[in-house]
Amino acid sequence: MWEDEEEREEREGVVIYNFSKLLMTVKLGNLKDPDCVSFLKQNLPQLHLRWSGFRRVRRQVCRRLRARFRKLGLEDFASYRNYLVNNPDEWSVVDACCRVTISRFYRDALVFEQLCQILPTLIQLGQERRDSSIRCWCAGCASGEEVYTLKLIEHFCLSSQTLAFPGRGDLSVSVPLRINNSAGDLTVVAAPSGRASQARTHRRDSRQKLFLPLSILGTDVDEYLLLRARRGCYSPGTLKELPQEWIAQAFDVNQQYCLKSAFQEGTQFERADIRKQMPQGLFHLILCRYLAFTYFEPILQQEILQGIIHRLVPEGILVIGKKESLPFAGKNPLIKLSSLGIYQKQTV
Ligand SMILES: C[S@@+](CC[C@H](N)C(=O)[O-])C[C@H]1O[C@@H](n2cnc3c(N)ncnc32)[C@H](O)[C@@H]1O
Repeated sequence: MWEDEEEREEREGVVIYNFSKLLMTVKLGNLKDPDCVSFLKQNLPQLHLRWSGFRRVRRQVCRRLRARFRKLGLEDFASYRNYLVNNPDEWSVVDACCRVTISRFYRDALVFEQLCQILPTLIQLGQERRDSSIRCWCAGCASGEEVYTLKLIEHFCLSSQTLAFPGRGDLSVSVPLRINNSAGDLTVVAAPSGRASQARTHRRDSRQKLFLPLSILGTDVDEYLLLRARRGCYSPGTLKELPQEWIAQAFDVNQQYCLKSAFQEGTQFERADIRKQMPQGLFHLILCRYLAFTYFEPILQQEILQGIIHRLVPEGILVIGKKESLPFAGKNPLIKLSSLGIYQKQTV
């Protein structure tokens, strides 16, 4: 289920059951779940999670918790709370129940349209640093939807002549690019000084010279989601925000939409709990959307943010969810490029 469906449940008091192809919407009136809500409010802090992140999407979490305590032969949330007191190992099960796994391809389309404009700049940066690829990290990658969206952008956006999105208006930009954030909104401009003419020459002489491949790492704490990510097969609803031409070219359609192997090249998936472990090395681009900055408590958010900043190359880009904001972490080197949650690490 997607977050907006959960939000619809919340708003309209409907429950949406998705039985494979049959989508059945049942009006149930306004569902109230005070026991689960007070259980979450009381226990989320123990896991360094915050209630405000779960308020709108709590139903999937409550369903899982209820299924769990029933499996243990318990009656209600109060009994489950007592069980936790006597069985501390059970906290890891509560933690797993609290993972919100909602994702889809090209989620918040405008963000990826802006990324399309930024990628040439990152490529130029990678070339200047003599890197062999543009290293991207999607933290909390779910079933790979974000990782493969970057792959699709690399193919359809970067390799196109105009760098424009099919059927999406006048977003075309020209290289070379430097990012200008002076107005607080994203504008991608020609690189200043000698660099511009140098890069322009590159483009004129050989377009390929302005290309470095993306190498994209997706990490998630959930092994089952990672298995699905490596397989790369999805239901049509997961693709609903993608341009039709991209779907037609990038997926084989059988019972599901499966990514062609060419679009899986340069991707890698690893299990990692971001609270304990972050990947090694530096990245040009990090996406951390609808994970730490929604569900984690502020102190943990600050720790994660520091870890992310350390892993960004100077001038690298961080993308958070468009509805998220960064925790206050004193002076940090990030400048906001776009109101959609795109930041750039300043050179010191
Ligand atoms: C709401 S989904 C967001 C997916 C994707 N980033 C997006 O925006 O579409 C959150 C993802 O974070 C993962 N997750 C939750 N807790 C995590 C943790 N501690 N470490 C790593 N991943 C985690 C979940 O398994 C889930 O796949």
